[in-house]
Amino acid sequence: MEMDQAFISALHDGLGLDEVFVDEGTRSTYGHDETEDLSFPPDVVVRPRSAEAVQRVMRLCHEYRIPVTPIGGRTGLSGGALCVHGGVGLALDRMDRILEIDEKNLQVTVEPGVITQVLQEAVAAKGLYYPPDPSSRGSCTIGGNLAENAGGPRALKYGVTRDFVLNLQVVLPSGDMIWTGANTLKNSTGYDLTRLLVGSEGTLGVITKAVLRLIPLPQLDRLMLVPFSDARRACEAVSAVFRSGVTPSALEFMERDAIDWTLRFIGQVQVPVGDDVKAHLLVEVDGNDEGAVMQDCEVILRVMDEHGAGEVLFAENASEKDALWLLRRKVGEAVKSRSIYKEEDTVVPRYRLPDLLEGVKTIGARYGFQSVCYGHAGDGNLHVNIVKGELSDHAWEHELPKAIREIFQLTVGLGGTLSGEHGIGSVQRAYMDIAFDAVQLDLMRRIRKAFDPYGIMNPGKVLPE
Ligand code: LAC
Ligand code: ZN
Repeated sequence: MEMDQAFISALHDGLGLDEVFVDEGTRSTYGHDETEDLSFPPDVVVRPRSAEAVQRVMRLCHEYRIPVTPIGGRTGLSGGALCVHGGVGLALDRMDRILEIDEKNLQVTVEPGVITQVLQEAVAAKGLYYPPDPSSRGSCTIGGNLAENAGGPRALKYGVTRDFVLNLQVVLPSGDMIWTGANTLKNSTGYDLTRLLVGSEGTLGVITKAVLRLIPLPQLDRLMLVPFSDARRACEAVSAVFRSGVTPSALEFMERDAIDWTLRFIGQVQVPVGDDVKAHLLVEVDGNDEGAVMQDCEVILRVMDEHGAGEVLFAENASEKDALWLLRRKVGEAVKSRSIYKEEDTVVPRYRLPDLLEGVKTIGARYGFQSVCYGHAGDGNLHVNIVKGELSDHAWEHELPKAIREIFQLTVGLGGTLSGEHGIGSVQRAYMDIAFDAVQLDLMRRIRKAFDPYGIMNPGKVLPE
């Protein structure tokens, strides 16, 4: 798209000189996230320092009808931050202040560019906990987490990003600014705009402040790595743990390849993996009472044993825990380093997880692709990484979408849905008809139009053409 020079001049007039970038280097940096190898540079990158500056950008985009894509930490996996229609890349990375930690009410007010781990460490220093912890927490931002309704391992016990949001300051496509709710724990006042905005993937407005809920930081945790010689049995053990009355703080699944590839990728971590091991569960229990935590561990060990688990490895100290978590968090990067791949973020009711895993493998065998599966088993959330490997470009371009369609049909048939935590973005929107019928999609389109009558807010995302 040829950028309107009058628009660029107006941006320059409305913002600081060092807030507007048209050079190729900056455009290319902000032109990609972690989604496959895709690159969609914006025509202009804007890096404002305040909500008022965001308002000025939106007013101009509204007036000139220029597409705007909000950009966070660029760790997304569904293309939510890609400027697929060019226009303005609105990077929120400079709005990275923690404005207030309210210890009396257990709340924190942040700007969208705060890195998730930075927030977690700041509140932990006060004995508080912000649990949502995507694997990319060291570089993803709260704004991106809000946009995609991110999860991570601890979502299992504590909830996903949405469950920790009390109130949002949002700049609408018109440039008007609103707060979506109130800073209260309960709220039955009108439509819940807060929950609507979370997970809207930058299509309804730009989040410029968030009031988030905190909880007391649990004092203790135990972490164990449990090997299985049968991946299906590992998945069956997952729902059995909950049925036994225990809610772990994390319950992650990793196929054999995921562990092997990641051990090789990160190098410094040693974990003994027997020849017959096909999958692992990584199980964490947290709490404040040593006896209660140990009791939960015993119940879990019994359930694992009943499902044919091998010898369980307990992390003995903080550095062993860190090593196991590093191993788990690096799986995505390890897969990416080996091959071009596509990432599906399927989620089913927990008990159906074994059927999902088996179905994915059956579809893979039929289409001739290799998949590496891992993810948040306790939430029924399976990341299916399809690696290109030896597949021809033709098969990758033309056959694979049919296979992915089958995977999603299977997922929805099992009572699940397309994405548990990565969002739909640009890469999954062609499959939305599997999860929603025409009436539902039309309702979503009308909601979007009510916010954004000119279709400038992150066009090309979420809803199918
Ligand atoms: C993870 C990311 C890919 O679970 O969601 O590691
Ligand atoms: Zn994940």
